[in-house]
Amino acid sequence: MHSIEVKASTGSYPIYIKNGLLEEIGAEVKKIYKGRRIVVVTDSNVNEFYGQKIISLLKGSGFETFKIVVKAGEESKSFKTLLEVYDKLLDFKINRGDIIVAFGGGVVGDMAGFAAATFLRGISLIQIPTTLLAQVDSSVGGKVAVDLPRGKNLVGNFYMPKAVFIDPLLLRTLNDKFLNDGMGEVIKYGAIKDSKLFNKLMKYENKEALLKGIDEIIYTCCSIKANIVEADELDTGERMLLNYGHTIGHAIEQFFNFALYSHGEAVAMGMYSITRLGEELGITKIGTSATIKDILIKYNLPWALPEINNEAIMETISHDKKNIGGSMNFILIESIGNSFIKKIDISNIKNYMEKIIK
Ligand SMILES: NC(=O)c1ccc[n+]([C@@H]2O[C@H](COP(=O)([O-])OP(=O)(O)OC[C@H]3O[C@@H](n4cnc5c(N)ncnc54)[C@H](O)[C@@H]3O)[C@@H](O)[C@H]2O)c1
Repeated sequence: MHSIEVKASTGSYPIYIKNGLLEEIGAEVKKIYKGRRIVVVTDSNVNEFYGQKIISLLKGSGFETFKIVVKAGEESKSFKTLLEVYDKLLDFKINRGDIIVAFGGGVVGDMAGFAAATFLRGISLIQIPTTLLAQVDSSVGGKVAVDLPRGKNLVGNFYMPKAVFIDPLLLRTLNDKFLNDGMGEVIKYGAIKDSKLFNKLMKYENKEALLKGIDEIIYTCCSIKANIVEADELDTGERMLLNYGHTIGHAIEQFFNFALYSHGEAVAMGMYSITRLGEELGITKIGTSATIKDILIKYNLPWALPEINNEAIMETISHDKKNIGGSMNFILIESIGNSFIKKIDISNIKNYMEKIIK
């Protein structure tokens, strides 16, 4: 079993990664949680595949279990769902000695994580991520949030889990669209920090070969993320590197009302276009954007920006919550594996964007 200890200001927590780890979940949870009552929060799809299994495994280890199932999809990262979850927690008479297990993709992880962070001013949380995106990204680093009608992730907190348990075998039931989506984030780690990982990703011949080695890939990605979030827990410095491709990606997602492109697809286009911009500015080694394009095509992710309106994108970017004091941090790469933060004055961003959106 791979394990990574993530140091946080509120104490450190482990990430465990092992094929088949779900089968051992009862015994593993017992090692880190001395209470008896567990609330599993999951979504309707994950419940279908694994809901009964996780409950019977936890019961088998002597826990008293409760389950809350929310509708699958981003719409559950809302205050409406959150209120329903709080209601159920009250029905179950959950108190501060009990624990919430967020069992699902990034939606469940963020929403149940926010519920854990806020219910009774905070009860303990375990993350068991079930999508590739959640296994390599959202379950690590403690960001929890819900959306508002006017934007994503606008209400949230930093709330560290007691542990993260990752079973890569759960990805076998994930459909290809979501697998590719997660690959967008995996490619990002290679591009910003690890050329070896990037080159390895270039070599997989098919999905089976990729899934065979996915536990190692997840370990590499979690190690990169753990190092970054340890150095910058509250996202004011190095952690911004994780936003490579995300500023433009978020703007695309928002422009199309989150309906046309998934997060991974939007970030993929963002990574390619910001790298092209880096080349135009003479910062990025020529040919890097072509390499990014090749890998995105390999993993069925889009690279070319869609027809969009520059003014509308500018409007979205200027409201991005990462704007601080009239400037914005863009993440550029010099070459594959070497990234840095470039502060750009908001007033200049329009010129830069015109170079990208043609
Ligand atoms: N907290 C963070 O640091 C962070 C980082 C990145 C993204 N996010 C958030 O993550 C969310 C996206 O997460 P996501 O892509 O995991 O989406 P998701 O949670 O909606 O899961 C995608 C789909 O896969 C299904 N699914 C999940 N696990 C499955 C499995 N093992 N087998 C079959 N189907 C399965 C889900 O039901 C859903 O339909 C967004 O809300 C985003 O804002 C958070």
